[in-house]
Amino acid sequence: MQLTTLIGEPWRDYALLDSGHGRKLERYGRHRFVRPEGQALWSPASDDWQADAEFVPGSDEEGGGQWKFARSVPRDGWELGWQDVRFIAQTTPFRHLGFFPDMAPVWAWMQGQLSDATAPECLNLFGYTGVGTLALASHGARMVHVDASKKSVEGARANARLSGLAEAPVRWLVEDAAKFAGREVRRGRRYDGILLDPPKYGRGPTGEVWRLEEHLPALIADCRRLLDAESRFLFLTVYAVRMSALAIGEMLRQAFADLPGTVEAGELAVREEARGLALPTAIFARWSR
Ligand SMILES: C[S@@+](CC[C@H](N)C(=O)[O-])C[C@H]1O[C@@H](n2cnc3c(N)ncnc32)[C@H](O)[C@@H]1O
Repeated sequence: MQLTTLIGEPWRDYALLDSGHGRKLERYGRHRFVRPEGQALWSPASDDWQADAEFVPGSDEEGGGQWKFARSVPRDGWELGWQDVRFIAQTTPFRHLGFFPDMAPVWAWMQGQLSDATAPECLNLFGYTGVGTLALASHGARMVHVDASKKSVEGARANARLSGLAEAPVRWLVEDAAKFAGREVRRGRRYDGILLDPPKYGRGPTGEVWRLEEHLPALIADCRRLLDAESRFLFLTVYAVRMSALAIGEMLRQAFADLPGTVEAGELAVREEARGLALPTAIFARWSR
């Protein structure tokens, strides 16, 4: 399988400005932030980074740490946009800003897959603050958005209101992703597209445990049952896990062997504005008809 690199370019409200020495400098609208970045093995373009805040990691590799503010930043967030979608960016204790800007090329690709579909219906599992859901809803898709966290779903609904999509046909569900997919299979449901952005580890609303390495293959098998030869796509991203793009690509190829179409896999990356280099952020595998 040939690996592909899917590179997110800077847009009006987001840019990776510079990176190096294990850190990255990004612009989120009018604010700039420095965050740790293990993949930035090179030297930065500039030694003089001006930022509103820096996330200083704790001693624990996986978590911990806190924001150190050099200037004041609205703690309850500020509005950003991508295409017609509006959403809130916010410094979170999890070192990110409340959405994942490296997903922009994924949102655009999914929109493209649906371009000639009439009233498509798509499923977003682990949907978080909903930018992916809204990117498709803004293109006329009916959506089912699933996330275990009530707070995330509330954030996603607030983003829908900001985007003028409060009345769009979106079902907002606080549910365990794997359990929901299994139930949809038993109900005989089908979708035109599925987006999956699972964390390494998570918990469903009633304590269901999600471990990516353990549970991903069964979830992909259920997703396959929710798609048919008329469906358009499945897009899977995997972050921060010891797993190769080739491995998730081959898993998807096996799961989709009986459907027409193509399976691709590779790395997601973000274009650095200073020098044009591509900073990898995740691996992906996708099926399209
Ligand atoms: C968007 S994913 C994280 C993927 C991300 N790109 C990363 O850095 O790992 C996180 C979302 O998955 C949700 N989540 C975690 N476990 C879940 C589960 N068992 N069922 C449904 N959603 C879950 C969390 O509430 C969160 O909103």
